[in-house]
Amino acid sequence: MKYFFILGKNPILSKAEIEAVLQSKVIKSKVEMSFDKILILEIDKELDVEWLNSQLGGTVKIGLILGEMSDVAEFEEKFFEFAKFNEKKFYFGFSLYPLSPKINILAIQKKVNAIAMELKSRLRDEKQVSSRYVVSREAELSSVIVQKNKLLKNGAEFCFFIDQGKTLFGQTLAVQEFEQFGARDFARPGRDNVSGMLPPKLARMMINLAQVKSDATILDPFCGSGTILQEAIVLGYKNLTGTDNSDRAVKDSLNNLEWLLNKSKVKSLKSNVMKLDVKDLSLKFKANSIDAIVTEPFLGPAMRGNENQVQLEKIIESLESIYLAAFVQFAKVLVKGGKVVMVFPIYNIRNIQNKLDILSQIEKLGFVKSNKEELVYFRENQYVRRSIMIFKKV
Ligand SMILES: C[S@@+](CC[C@H](N)C(=O)[O-])C[C@H]1O[C@@H](n2cnc3c(N)ncnc32)[C@H](O)[C@@H]1O
Repeated sequence: MKYFFILGKNPILSKAEIEAVLQSKVIKSKVEMSFDKILILEIDKELDVEWLNSQLGGTVKIGLILGEMSDVAEFEEKFFEFAKFNEKKFYFGFSLYPLSPKINILAIQKKVNAIAMELKSRLRDEKQVSSRYVVSREAELSSVIVQKNKLLKNGAEFCFFIDQGKTLFGQTLAVQEFEQFGARDFARPGRDNVSGMLPPKLARMMINLAQVKSDATILDPFCGSGTILQEAIVLGYKNLTGTDNSDRAVKDSLNNLEWLLNKSKVKSLKSNVMKLDVKDLSLKFKANSIDAIVTEPFLGPAMRGNENQVQLEKIIESLESIYLAAFVQFAKVLVKGGKVVMVFPIYNIRNIQNKLDILSQIEKLGFVKSNKEELVYFRENQYVRRSIMIFKKV
């Protein structure tokens, strides 16, 4: 069966997450098509799409590919084959995704809108079904529009993946739980804009990239407001510890976890948050006792974009020393085969990317880097980008 995935703003990272989650569940998949934010996978069995959607942080929509046509005009008949009407009002919408930069999506959008009007009349005249065609200014409906118009419950969203001379079409089966992600970011009691917080979707992706079992012990040694711990709880992990050398961070994390636990049904959770400098990890944790470290450390002072090379080198040098001290500790407390999934900053100043250069020293401490592609989470014009690195203790 072929499934489509509409990926978030950092598609390489989203793809790596999907691959990691499917691999952990021993679900074999083959890439059928990958273009920009569209990924189509051939999967050898039926996917539990709702479950997969509830796991992922970097995917906006998941659906099933239903067929192929040479032109979108052929969809008029296919619509009656695939749309399931009930007595209630039928809500439907279309999203168009180009599979090549040569596609003129605006022209196709006009054609599709005309087909939709025709379908509305035919639904009324031939099926006695009243319907509403849901549109957006964009060629695609956002997950918010799909959700708010209840297209998955009271109707259907069909997606077209358009290439020259060939169009795949499919139906959306799940959209990202954006409201819950937003609440875990903005409605929680402890937020620290000065130290900075990970977006929960990125925290989720990082935990998934660690590929550890649900009974694994996970540590975030720079836990800040506890975003990684929160997402790990939502994913069902039960053995979690957060440490940080700031009193404020410990308090924020504790408040946020309490808030989340009150909202959720999680009962048996062994979570612990304490004040601890990363250099002292091995004083508190037994050797070989942690399965995965998932963390975003101090990323340096806030950047203004006008830092000169000498200033940048000074910042990078001081971070290199903190990060290496952290890896010395990670090598002690992690089990053999244990994972580190960690954010490394990239300073994007005057379009030059300045990075830490400690990979060989980390490898000497007994780690191998496992991500081949660079996994960067960023927005254009951001001075500090986040490169996600995955290491395995050998
Ligand atoms: C960027 S914040 C982490 C934010 C966190 N990921 C979140 O989403 O809330 C970095 C954290 O590292 C902590 N920190 C800095 N140096 C540390 C050290 N030497 N040992 C432990 N924690 C440290 C800071 O107090 C801060 O809370």
